[in-house]
Amino acid sequence: MKIIAPTQPDDWAQYYRLRYEVLRQPWQQPAGSERSPDDATATHALLVDESGKALGVGRLHQHAPEEAQIRFMAIRPDQQGKGLGNLILKHLEDIARQWQVKQLTLQARENALNFYRRNGYKEIEKSHVLFGEIQHYKMAKDII
Ligand SMILES: CC(C)(COP(=O)(O)OP(=O)(O)OC[C@H]1O[C@@H](n2cnc3c(N)ncnc32)[C@H](O)[C@@H]1OP(=O)(O)O)[C@@H](O)C(=O)NCCC(=O)NCCS
Repeated sequence: MKIIAPTQPDDWAQYYRLRYEVLRQPWQQPAGSERSPDDATATHALLVDESGKALGVGRLHQHAPEEAQIRFMAIRPDQQGKGLGNLILKHLEDIARQWQVKQLTLQARENALNFYRRNGYKEIEKSHVLFGEIQHYKMAKDII
């Protein structure tokens, strides 16, 4: 397996399909709701298997000279719990270090709190509730 930056139409199709299937479809959200206007200025990671099929996705977006945000982390349901999320997270953290970002922030879904804690992120505060039911927590990690 390897992590690529989506460039080809098929990469983008797989990238957004996985985002939709994991982060939107289970809450009956409409097609297209997986896209965000600031995707255009973000860096994207697509984890693919040997045959090029998507296993996971994630996104990094620089908010300020010293801060970037991790968002839209999603692993294919039948591949969750195997440590693949760590690979994408570390890849995005490495890019943030190259940008000389000092702090990474994210909004963690409650079910993903332990995943981010294991990767060194600390809870800052309870934040919004998405789709009327998914509690989020703002988390941060200093990377320098
Ligand atoms: C959160 C996520 C990105 C983590 O990636 P991952 O590769 O699954 O991470 P890990 O292998 O470390 O396992 C994550 C959890 O799945 C659990 N798990 C174990 N076996 C599992 C299985 N067969 N299926 C699903 N989860 C399993 C692990 O115990 C672990 O639980 P914990 O974090 O509460 O301790 C991924 O699970 C995911 O896409 N979840 C759904 C979408 C989501 O919530 N994204 C984050 C938005 S902020």
